[in-house]
Amino acid sequence: CVVAVLLGGTSSEREVSLMSGATVVDNLAPLCAQVRSVDPVNSNWLEQLDGVDFVFNILHGGSGENGSVQGLLATLGLPQSGSGVLGAALGMDKLRSKAIWRDAGLPVAEAAVLASDTDFEAVIQSLGEVFVKPAYEGSSIGMSIASSAEELAQAYKSASEYQGPVFAERRIVGEEYTVAILGDRALPAIRLQAHEIFYDYHAKYVSNDTQYFCPCGLSKEREAELADLALAAFKAIDCAVWGRVDFMVDQQGQPYILEANTVPGMTSHSLVPMAAKAAGLSVQGLLREIIELSLA
Ligand code: DAL
Ligand code: MG
Repeated sequence: CVVAVLLGGTSSEREVSLMSGATVVDNLAPLCAQVRSVDPVNSNWLEQLDGVDFVFNILHGGSGENGSVQGLLATLGLPQSGSGVLGAALGMDKLRSKAIWRDAGLPVAEAAVLASDTDFEAVIQSLGEVFVKPAYEGSSIGMSIASSAEELAQAYKSASEYQGPVFAERRIVGEEYTVAILGDRALPAIRLQAHEIFYDYHAKYVSNDTQYFCPCGLSKEREAELADLALAAFKAIDCAVWGRVDFMVDQQGQPYILEANTVPGMTSHSLVPMAAKAAGLSVQGLLREIIELSLA
C-alpha cells in the first residue's frame, strides 16, 4: 500500500516533527510498497496525497495535532492514524482536558487562567509555586516556573507569545512519569528525571543527561494504578489508537494527570518507542499496530 507520512508543518514543534517523521518513514519503508514524506509546510501538500491509501500523521502541535488536519483528512475520506477530530482537539487543549478530567473525578493539579489584568500576587498566594503554560502548545514550549508575582508576570508574558490561553498550574513536587497507550492497553510506565529544573524542550530533545527509568520503580500495584488512570484520561477526552499521558506523582504518592498527547514524539530521545521496546515491541511493530488499530 501507499502511505503518506505527514511531517514538519508550521507549528512551533516543527523540528521535533521532522525528527519523529524520519523515524516513521525509515521504519515504515520495509512494510509498505511506497512511503511518501509530505511536509505540510508546502502549500501543495494536499496534492501530494493523491493516490495514497493511508496517511500516517506525525505532525506535532498546531493544526496537525489539534483536530484540523484530522477533520480535513476525514472529510476527504482518507484513512489516517490516531485520534479523530474531538480527541485531537481536546488533547491539544490543556485547559479543557483538565476540566473534563476534573469533572470525571480524575486527579489534576489546581490551575488558574491568566490574563494581563490578573492579580498575579493573588495567584501565587493561592497556588504557591506554579508552572505557567500556553494551553495549546507541546514539548514544554513557552513554559516556565514562577514563585513570585514578578516571576509570574514575566512567565505570563513569555507564554502569551504562543498559541492559546495561558494558565498557571500548582507545581507538584515529586516524580514525573509517562504512560504510553496503544489501543486499549497501557505500555510500561517510564519515570523521567531531567537534569534541568524541569523536563523542558532541551531536556526532551537535546540533553543526554535526562535519565529514563523503565521499569519505572513503582510497585506493580502503583504502576497498574497509573496505567488505569492513563487509559481513563485518554478515554475521557475521546482519544484513541495511540498516545501518551504524562503525570506527576507527589511525595505522598498521589498522581496528577498533566496532559495527554495524541501525536507523541517518535524521536531518538522519545518515550513511546522506549515504552514499546520495554513491552517487547520494535518501532516497526509499534507502527504496524498503530496502522492496524487506526483501520479497525
Ligand atoms: N509534543 C511532543 C512531541 C510529545 O508529546 O512527545
Ligand atoms: Mg504535550
